[in-house]
Amino acid sequence: MNKTALITGASSGLGREFAWICAENGYDLVITARNTDALNALKNELEAKFGVRVFVFDCDLSQNTSADKICEFVRENSLKIDILINNAGFGDHCEFVKSDLKKQLEMVQVNIASLLNLTHYFANLMIEQNGGKILNIASAASLTAGPKMSVYYASKAFVRNFSVALGEELRAQNISVTAFCPGPVATNFGERAGVKNAKIFARSDDAGAVARRGFEAMMSGKTLVYDGRFMLLANLLTRIFPLKFCAKVTGFLNG
Ligand SMILES: NC(=O)c1ccc[n+]([C@@H]2O[C@H](COP(=O)([O-])OP(=O)(O)OC[C@H]3O[C@@H](n4cnc5c(N)ncnc54)[C@H](OP(=O)(O)O)[C@@H]3O)[C@@H](O)[C@H]2O)c1
Repeated sequence: MNKTALITGASSGLGREFAWICAENGYDLVITARNTDALNALKNELEAKFGVRVFVFDCDLSQNTSADKICEFVRENSLKIDILINNAGFGDHCEFVKSDLKKQLEMVQVNIASLLNLTHYFANLMIEQNGGKILNIASAASLTAGPKMSVYYASKAFVRNFSVALGEELRAQNISVTAFCPGPVATNFGERAGVKNAKIFARSDDAGAVARRGFEAMMSGKTLVYDGRFMLLANLLTRIFPLKFCAKVTGFLNG
């Protein structure tokens, strides 16, 4: 029987690429997002090309009941999840006080709370299964504070720090947790967040290549991986300079 990977946000961008890579590596899949047409098209492509089973579950992770529904779906289909990829997420370019608060809270629900919910449920099952792999998609944004995208940057700092801590807690149980932090990637993210034309997105990496490096990092059990052409420099600068200074520069780059 094939192993199974559960991927959130698989309808586009990095999540779609993760689905391809997992299927190519012989994993059956549970793919989730809101865009059912895109998920069903992906299911048909992957089943035809790789002969794996693909389960589609459409859900809106900004609703606080959705993660539980995914768990229920997995239970009902008697699936055993070997890999969990918490990839769904979005940003919003705005000044916080002028922003739509509902959207900011939905971002916290998708980027943080739903990720916690799924991780808690599946990590416990992985303990019973004596192993598993969790890949949490953080971001270069986790390195600093990001004016005009303050909630997004803070949400990714949460994902990064939480994942590293959880990785330590689960190490002895044969479960790896990888916090993957890409720089700008060419996906729908920039357009949706309203930062497509920001200086920070002037050069973005190819989604397929980034996802492949993320998958490899997870498979080799790495804890924290920064990915992208300027990440070494960004990592160094954010260690040297005070957070307030880095935030000013980031605010400029966010445009
Ligand atoms: N692109 C970048 O520059 C970049 C850099 C660093 C980190 N990241 C992170 O990478 C991850 C993937 O983003 P991407 O770049 O691939 O962007 P993307 O193409 O916009 O994909 C985002 C995915 O998340 C899903 N999603 C968004 N809101 C959702 C909701 N309310 N409920 C369920 N699913 C939802 C979307 O599906 P539906 O719309 O169909 O629901 C989509 O499949 C995100 O966590 C993002 O923060 C991106």
